[in-house]
Amino acid sequence: MNTLITFSDLRAARLSLKGTVGLVPTMGYLHEGHLSLIKRAKEECKHVIVSIFVNPTQFGPNEDLSKYPRDLERDLSLITPLGVDLVWTPTAEVMYPSGYQTWVEVEAMTQPLEGSMRPGHFKGVTTVVAKLFNASQPDKAYFGQKDAQQAAVIRQMTRDLNFPIEIVVCPTTREADGLAMSSRNKYLNEAERKAAVVLFRSLSAAKELYEDGERDAEKLRGKMKEVLAAEPLAQMQYVSCADYDSLEELSEIRGKALLSMAVFLGKTRLIDNFVLG
Ligand code: PAF
Repeated sequence: MNTLITFSDLRAARLSLKGTVGLVPTMGYLHEGHLSLIKRAKEECKHVIVSIFVNPTQFGPNEDLSKYPRDLERDLSLITPLGVDLVWTPTAEVMYPSGYQTWVEVEAMTQPLEGSMRPGHFKGVTTVVAKLFNASQPDKAYFGQKDAQQAAVIRQMTRDLNFPIEIVVCPTTREADGLAMSSRNKYLNEAERKAAVVLFRSLSAAKELYEDGERDAEKLRGKMKEVLAAEPLAQMQYVSCADYDSLEELSEIRGKALLSMAVFLGKTRLIDNFVLG
C-alpha cells in the first residue's frame, strides 16, 4: 500500500494502475461504514484508491473543523488489511494552494435540507470531489447513503460535468441499536449516545406508516417530529419527506422518496435518512 500526498505523486501512481479503479473519498477517522465502502470497491474494481482529507471548505465558520477527529495512523492500520493500492492524504496546501479561486457548484438541489442549514457546505464538497475525481481518474466512486443529499448532489455533478465515473451509493452501516455510524458519534456522552437511537426510531415509525399505505408526506413528517419530541435530549433541526431525485419537499408520495432529518444531541448534530419505494 502506497501513501501519497502530492498531486504529481498521485498521478504518477495512478498511471501505473492498469484495469478498473475504484475511489473511496473520506475525511478519515474511519469506521465500519467507510470500511464497507472500501470492501465494496475491492469487490468491484481491480484497484482501490482511498483519499483521506478533512476538507476545510465544506465546514462553515461555526462548524467543527478544528475539532473534527483525526487519526491517520489508526486509519492506515484499518485500511492496510483490506488490500488498498493507494492512500492519498493531501494537505490543505496541496488541495488549495495560495491563490486558489475555482469552485464547482450544483444549484437547486443544494438549497434545501443540509444546504439550508449549512450554507456553502455543498460548494466545498463538490469542489473537492471534482478535484479528487480529476486527480485519481476512477471508473467508480463510492459514497454512503447516510449522506443522502451529498450522494444526490454528486450524482448530479457527475452527470453535468460528464465525468466518466459510476457513482455507487452503499447502504448506511448501523450500530446494533440502529444508530447510523458517523465519525461525529464519538462526541456523544453516554446519555446522548443512548438517546441518539431516536433518529432511527423516528424514521422507522414513519416508514411503518408508509408501509401501512400512508402517502400523505405531511403525516410522515408529523410522525417523525412526534417521536423526536418525546426524547428530551434531542433537538430537531429539520425533518423532511422529499422526492428522492430532486429533493423537493413532497405533499403526496407517488414515487421514490427520501425521509431525512438533522437532530442535535447536545452540541452534536446528527443526520440520518431512509429511502421509501
Ligand atoms: O462524506 C465525506 O466524508 C466528505 O463529504 C467527502 C465526500 C469525502 C468530501 O470531502
